[in-house]
Amino acid sequence: MNRFDKVSNYYNKFMNRFSLYKEKEVGELLTIKNIDSLLDIGAGTCHYSNYLSKDIKHIMAIDNSVNMLKYADDLVSTKEVDVYNGIPFEDEIYDAVIMCDFIHHLKKGNHQRLINEVSRVLKKNGEFVIYDFEKTHFKTKILYLFELFIFFQKMDYISVKDLIKILENNNFEITKQVIDDYTYVIKGVKK
Ligand SMILES: C[S@@+](CC[C@H](N)C(=O)[O-])C[C@H]1O[C@@H](n2cnc3c(N)ncnc32)[C@H](O)[C@@H]1O
Repeated sequence: MNRFDKVSNYYNKFMNRFSLYKEKEVGELLTIKNIDSLLDIGAGTCHYSNYLSKDIKHIMAIDNSVNMLKYADDLVSTKEVDVYNGIPFEDEIYDAVIMCDFIHHLKKGNHQRLINEVSRVLKKNGEFVIYDFEKTHFKTKILYLFELFIFFQKMDYISVKDLIKILENNNFEITKQVIDDYTYVIKGVKK
């Protein structure tokens, strides 16, 4: 059983209690009118997919926790996927990809490979929005200890600076960055 399977019943309550969801900020960075298909990676309880499904027709939410995915609304498609095995979809089929509160869950050294996979499944000019926590901020260090206690896993947070480098090396142009206290939301467009 995945660690998130065990906390799925409490997850949304926890996230709302600490105001950790940023659906408006993520939504605002996407050019919704141009997006017909979106892939949500590490979608969890599908909070972002559910929110965006009022405006985007085809949403696919992937995660390796089936218990988390069961909170998807009817309009959202879901698939159990472990991203360490790649993204099981064809090349250039999505208009947009989002990864919220997810990238730091990847084991060290896997960021580059996953971002390369995202680039593969995105169409040209496709949009990629990432929301995560700034590695160098002291609040993120507290979050690190909390997640270590809850999940017995050392998370690999990444700084905006390093993330931008990886994105640029993978053919993305950074078009927006919203940095707020210890969180960031950034948008890359596939060239
Ligand atoms: C902190 S949660 C974020 C969920 C959602 N994006 C949100 O913001 O509410 C991280 C999610 O990543 C998923 N996850 C972790 N490792 C994964 C992997 N290797 N493949 C797919 N999903 C994974 C977990 O199951 C969990 O649902």
